[in-house]
Amino acid sequence: MGGITVPEVEDYLYAMLPPSDEVLAEIETEAAKNDVPIVGPAVGRILYQLATISGAKKVFEMGSAIGYSTIWWARAVGEGGRVVYTDGDRNNADQARRYFERAGVSQRISVRVGDALEMLSEEKDPYDIIFNDVDKNDYPRVFRLALSRLKRGGLFITDNVLWSGKVAQPNPDEQTKAILEFNRLIFEAKELFTTILPIRDGVSVCVKK
Ligand SMILES: C[S@@+](CC[C@H](N)C(=O)[O-])C[C@H]1O[C@@H](n2cnc3c(N)ncnc32)[C@H](O)[C@@H]1O
Repeated sequence: MGGITVPEVEDYLYAMLPPSDEVLAEIETEAAKNDVPIVGPAVGRILYQLATISGAKKVFEMGSAIGYSTIWWARAVGEGGRVVYTDGDRNNADQARRYFERAGVSQRISVRVGDALEMLSEEKDPYDIIFNDVDKNDYPRVFRLALSRLKRGGLFITDNVLWSGKVAQPNPDEQTKAILEFNRLIFEAKELFTTILPIRDGVSVCVKK
């Protein structure tokens, strides 16, 4: 994934980060080796910060892969908190479970395998945070679904909204078009207050009014 800031600035930002603990560092290595697109430590810290600032206790994560971002959420919500892990790939979920055990957060995480959009649509109680990291073509559909499952004052957070800078290039492909539509929707929605953080691949943060 190409950075959206100039490489020197990107290097500078990452060089300042404290070292990851053993489990997160191992997932980072594993993800790099197997091309699993995880949010990485800079964005992981943002997720943690947003959850702790807002006092979130219930997080629904859409697209969890091998559980890297899930661990950041689980640590942020603390002992009484709950995080829903979702992924369409059972092998990812099995691997993630092992990491959750080792990180000491498995009690806070409910692991669900299947279509994250379907699973979210079945949820009745509102969430404090919904984090969206599924296939980019589905982003507009996630937007329509997520708003009604979020409490007032809750956060709807999405990764990859600048898509290696492709959102600002001519002739967008299908995935980029979906992200462009998504970004338009989150800024136009009257129920949301939206910002985009240009860190790594772009993270949108929407507060539900
Ligand atoms: C970018 S990765 C998630 C990375 C993870 N959030 C992290 O940072 O550690 C996207 C994952 O979403 C899963 N995925 C994509 N679309 C999905 C869907 N509709 N339902 C469930 N999982 C989905 C893929 O299997 C993949 O593992």
